[in-house]
Amino acid sequence: MRKLAVVHHRFREWVPALSEAEPRLEVRGWHPREVGDDPWLADAEGLFVWRIPQGLIPRMPRLAWIQNSGAGLDHLVREAIPAGIPITRADGQFGLWMARYTAGHLLSEAQRLDECRIAQAERRWAARLVPEDLTGKVALIHGFGRIGRQIGRALRELGLEVHGFVRTPRADGEFPVHAGRELPQWLGGARVLVLCAPLTDETRGMVDAGLLAQAHGGLTLVNVGRGELVVEADLLAALDRGQLGRAVLDVFSQEPLDPASPLWDHPKVVVTPHHAGVSMPGAIIPDILENLRRFAEGLPILNPVDRGLGY
Ligand code: GLV
Repeated sequence: MRKLAVVHHRFREWVPALSEAEPRLEVRGWHPREVGDDPWLADAEGLFVWRIPQGLIPRMPRLAWIQNSGAGLDHLVREAIPAGIPITRADGQFGLWMARYTAGHLLSEAQRLDECRIAQAERRWAARLVPEDLTGKVALIHGFGRIGRQIGRALRELGLEVHGFVRTPRADGEFPVHAGRELPQWLGGARVLVLCAPLTDETRGMVDAGLLAQAHGGLTLVNVGRGELVVEADLLAALDRGQLGRAVLDVFSQEPLDPASPLWDHPKVVVTPHHAGVSMPGAIIPDILENLRRFAEGLPILNPVDRGLGY
């Protein structure tokens, strides 16, 4: 039986789920803070992991596959992992969750829910409190893979005109898809910009003063990707200058967000605790089932990420 080590803060949930998904594997789990130098690890050929504890990889000389428990790999590609070991990712139902997140926050704004609640608390019939009509408004989604597309579909259903942005656009039968470098020229006419791109050398700090100079007070930024996609100081300056309307942030350069961060009480910022995409075994395992089978049978792993690209 091949051994699959699970090093994850929720290993108690993942170990039975992975064993059930592929009973031909021997699966054992550890909390990342508690993984010691158990000799079992030296024999394990597979690793299911979120953050890799320091010094773990050298203790796993037979390692032949790393399955990331989530979508973003930025933290893994920075590790010293021998080049021949395939790394795979899984985005499960993140697209659906992130579509709900984005639609929820955008609708809350468009329906003016905060103001409605205030009027209600004051027993005030606010007849002028008319929702914003989103029909035909432009949504830009930077990062247009499975997740971005699902967000795009949800926003399209709400009446928005959706444009995807990717590194290398290909012909697309469903949405207009542009090269990421064209994003600045679209900002002026957009209602919402959603960030769900992977964090790479190319995307790090992409939302900076230069890009935000093309934005306007009616634009909402939604970041469900990574905090480092945005230069936080530039974002705050743009909000303060009225160069950006609002920022809905689920991810931050430092998580948990520092209690002293000015983002917490900024009137134009919504802070949520990295909960836009929830990774549950039931949602992730269908994505990785084929590779679990292949791993059990000693076959090559499918769809490893391109470490050079970072996704
Ligand atoms: C979560 O942020 C993930 O990348 O899976």
